[in-house]
Amino acid sequence: MKKFLSILMVLVMILSLAGCGAKATTETETTEVPATDETTTETPAAPVEKKVITVSTKFVDNEQTAISLVKVVDAINERSGGSLELQLFTNGVLPIGKDGMEQIVQGSDWIMVEGINFLGDYVPDYNAVTGPFLYKSFDEFFAMMDTPLVQGLNQKIEEEYGIKVLSLDWVFGFRSMMTKKPITKPEDMRGLNIRVPTSQLYTFTIEAMGGNPVAMPYPDTYAALQQGVIDGIEGSIMTYYGTQQYENVKEYSITNHLLGVSAISISTKLWDKLTEEEQTILVEEFEKGMEENLAETIKAEEEMAELLKAEGVTFHEVDSDAFLQAAAPVFTKFDNWTPGIYDQILVELDKIKANQ
Ligand code: G3P
Repeated sequence: MKKFLSILMVLVMILSLAGCGAKATTETETTEVPATDETTTETPAAPVEKKVITVSTKFVDNEQTAISLVKVVDAINERSGGSLELQLFTNGVLPIGKDGMEQIVQGSDWIMVEGINFLGDYVPDYNAVTGPFLYKSFDEFFAMMDTPLVQGLNQKIEEEYGIKVLSLDWVFGFRSMMTKKPITKPEDMRGLNIRVPTSQLYTFTIEAMGGNPVAMPYPDTYAALQQGVIDGIEGSIMTYYGTQQYENVKEYSITNHLLGVSAISISTKLWDKLTEEEQTILVEEFEKGMEENLAETIKAEEEMAELLKAEGVTFHEVDSDAFLQAAAPVFTKFDNWTPGIYDQILVELDKIKANQ
């Protein structure tokens, strides 16, 4: 009897295990079968693969470029329906300048908002088309960026370095001198240590204008001014007000020697991973952002000049001809520029001026 009971128990266990197995198989097969109810007949959508992209910039949050970038990033994330997640990092908390551009060249999931001069580290002619005192208005500059000459540089940098330039038009104002003493002529710059971005174009320009260029990333300048490591910086009214440098230096001398303008760059490796629709969204939203940044910058410059005056800043006119002459040799300093590029630029500029 005992033996009979043992055999019976074993049989029951085998049968119940077999039953479990059958049930498991049936469940796996049936869970994906859609219900027959009309409202739930659609096949569940495949989960969207999210592409997370870092957007890195030196601008601080209350500068117009950063304000416009926040809107661009939000619009792209929303329009992509969750397939793109751009994450904006301002104030240079992530690599900017040369280090930031290296991320692009190495094909990281990265968008860089940085001076066009940093494209000049790869294709030197970018420095030629953004040289000192070339432009008197934003419109002249925009027209130059549209010429076959500059579009050719965009093609070259894309093909040779995998840097896709989405925009060259994020302006933030003409750059002038912010110092402790007024500057009206090149001699006034003598002996002054002036911070410049890490760029040959800026180094040569400030040197030619009479100062001692000291290259450092912008976020380091506030402390450097306070510690006396530098005597001044150069930049736009937006930079001056937005980064509160009026707390350190109170004289703004209007040299307008270079245009403050950022390029938007992305690696071709990342670009090629995006769908056509995602590429369109990026292009269109960065274009809209550029327009907004431009309109707001133009509007805000006058207001900020007034606010700076209220903070005790004095504005100074300078001897423009003297600075123009002093800076002329900059265009002869670059032995890596395409021979004859400066003449080509002047020809294009004449055409632009004639058409405006
Ligand atoms: O916030 C910094 C920005 O306004 C200017 O940076 O490096 O072009 O002088 P930079």
